Amino acid sequence: MRTRLSTRWPAVALLATLTGGAVPAMALAQDADNNPYTSRIDVRTGRRLFRAQCSTCHGLNAAGGNESTGPDLTTGRFRHADSDAGLFRVIRDGVRSTSMLGLGADANDQSLWQLVTYLRSLDVTAGGTPSGSSAAGQQLFTGKGDCTRCHMVNGRGQRIGPDLSSVGDRRALADLETDLVDPDAELLPRWWTMRAVGPGGQVVEGLRMDEDTFTFRIMDAEQNLRAFSKYGDWTYERIQQSTMPGYAETLTADERNDLVAYLFSLRSEP
Ligand code: HEC
Ligand code: HEC
Repeated sequence: MRTRLSTRWPAVALLATLTGGAVPAMALAQDADNNPYTSRIDVRTGRRLFRAQCSTCHGLNAAGGNESTGPDLTTGRFRHADSDAGLFRVIRDGVRSTSMLGLGADANDQSLWQLVTYLRSLDVTAGGTPSGSSAAGQQLFTGKGDCTRCHMVNGRGQRIGPDLSSVGDRRALADLETDLVDPDAELLPRWWTMRAVGPGGQVVEGLRMDEDTFTFRIMDAEQNLRAFSKYGDWTYERIQQSTMPGYAETLTADERNDLVAYLFSLRSEP
């Protein structure tokens, strides 16, 4: 009991400093180091909170990115925290002198813990190791699976889908499995499909490249870019579905495991 108490003490002491000495009875009563909200529902709620409040800087899937100003939070390593309680504090109090402001002392504990749970669920190294064969997966990727028809890895392939050269950095094993069987899960608007039908019934369908009030552009499967006016004689339709087919039926479970092993091995740093 003594050692436990002494390890808890710093967290409680810090809480006291941050709240100007007024530590709520609840904070003392509950083990300040242990996250009480770790169920799958908490992961989902945490993700929802994250998307609403954090994704503008850290990216929709917390992986950072070119346009974002916050770091990748999916590596399982944090510069400012080495425990769940530490993460809790960073999310509440922010990082001094940076744009990471934190949610503030008024944020409710449950939401803060759920955000911690969500971030922990993203750790790509925590999900175990792939059961399939990466070498067999690589063969499938360029061969039977024909993934290079849409995806690029290290400069080879096409640009209909995201570049997968370092997909292992940003997707956990379970995410990669979902990517293969349910491409419409977590679909970003960037990957929506658009279908235009001409006056003679001709159809152009493909990736919705850009769209404004008057025009839109579609990239078809052959990567031809076609521009349309919204006020011409073509009708159009936005389809909130991925152009990627699901592979639940067309590939066996073993084949998918091999592909996942290959994708998981694709890292920016070996
Ligand atoms: C305005 C942009 C912005 C928003 C919004 C934002 N962050 Fe941050 N966050 C940053 C920046 C920038 C850093 C890096 C600070 C530093 O160390 O220089 C950071 C750092 C962090 C860290 C520490 C990373 C580490 O390596 O220790 C965590 C955890 C974090 N943010 C979580 C969140 C969560 C959760 C939210 C939403 C509640 C959020 N952030 C909202 C910009 C933001
Ligand atoms: C017809 C085009 C097409 C084909 C064929 C295709 N994909 Fe995709 N893929 C996409 C698009 C578009 C996305 C982005 C939208 C989404 O997540 O569904 C995507 C997303 C992904 C993602 C998620 C990437 C990320 O950054 O989150 C993975 C992994 C993936 N594909 C793997 C594969 C593998 C493996 C194959 C071959 C078995 C394959 N894809 C075949 C178009 C395609």
